[in-house]
Amino acid sequence: MRNDASVKIDIEKAPTSKINSVDFENLTFGHIFTDHMMVCDYDNGNWKAPKIVPYGPIQLDPSAKVFHYGQAVFEGMKAYCDDNDKIWMFRPEENLQRINKSSKRMAIPEFPEESFFSALEELLKLEKDWIKKGFGNSLYIRPFVIATEAGVLASPASQYKFMIICSPAKSYYTGEVRVQFSEHYSRAADGGVGFAKAAGNYGAQFYPTNLAKEAGFQQIIWTDANSHEYLEEAGTMNIFFRIKDKLITAPTNDRILDGITRKSILALAEANNIDCEVKRVPVKEIVEAAKASELKEIFGTGTAAVINPIQGFSYKGESFELPQLENSYASLLKNKLMRIQYNIDEDIFGWRYEVKE
Ligand code: COI
Repeated sequence: MRNDASVKIDIEKAPTSKINSVDFENLTFGHIFTDHMMVCDYDNGNWKAPKIVPYGPIQLDPSAKVFHYGQAVFEGMKAYCDDNDKIWMFRPEENLQRINKSSKRMAIPEFPEESFFSALEELLKLEKDWIKKGFGNSLYIRPFVIATEAGVLASPASQYKFMIICSPAKSYYTGEVRVQFSEHYSRAADGGVGFAKAAGNYGAQFYPTNLAKEAGFQQIIWTDANSHEYLEEAGTMNIFFRIKDKLITAPTNDRILDGITRKSILALAEANNIDCEVKRVPVKEIVEAAKASELKEIFGTGTAAVINPIQGFSYKGESFELPQLENSYASLLKNKLMRIQYNIDEDIFGWRYEVKE
């Protein structure tokens, strides 16, 4: 429902704002939250009216199903402020569609479009001062749904909360990122929930990622669970490889997140005459290309990370460094994408969504 949000939202304003205590130049990703949040309850088969309330703790019964069975899904979105103080989002209808797709897989009731856009736009208007101008500044928006019904019967809950919280953001990764190609652990399996933004998909990565960190790598690139021979995604990012002048990325399926940045990059690459191929990516092909100095770039794409270049990777104990390119596809495509997001370039794709006063 683009620019036609129509559900009346109850707003309880925070008595004071924390904004003056925030150092916007030195933000750790996802650490500080704005003054308000959106809350909407589901009960008796219906989503109730969404409310905006002061940001703060919520009370849940210790037996709430989210704690026991992980019935929880989330999204990541961003809002941007242009030089004329206008606020923009990027393809937000895709996030709503995806959270509802994730919800369906986790037996969570889908959330209505009108409530989503009305509540989100009201929240962003209220938090406008937190959306700083300037390339690279944004407000990270985290919608999520949790099962709140009390009781440990292993079945879908009958009560849920849909919430939206917001956090001012700069970059997700700081410093260089080197990755390990997974040889043992898996993120997702056929028929599973890998395509969904289910909370457990992320928690399950923490232990293997800690092991990779101890070995000097910031992230893991997950391989397919059956053979570990194909590269799939990086868990917080989809992943692209550049061999000579061609970009390659894995097709989305029930194991891989259908990234909004991923599909935007594919469209931008095509519009800029960059040769792209969506196909399964054999580890062997990437290792051989690296050995032949034909592997020019690896980069990850995601809402939080935008486009993050990978400096090197390791596989079966062998480490490879990637060249430092002056005109990388990663920086070219990141710039093109951000110029659309920040309302600098014409948006030929119709991706921008203005949050009107
Ligand atoms: C995002 O890019 O918004 C994500 O959901 C990744 C997240 C785990 C930070």
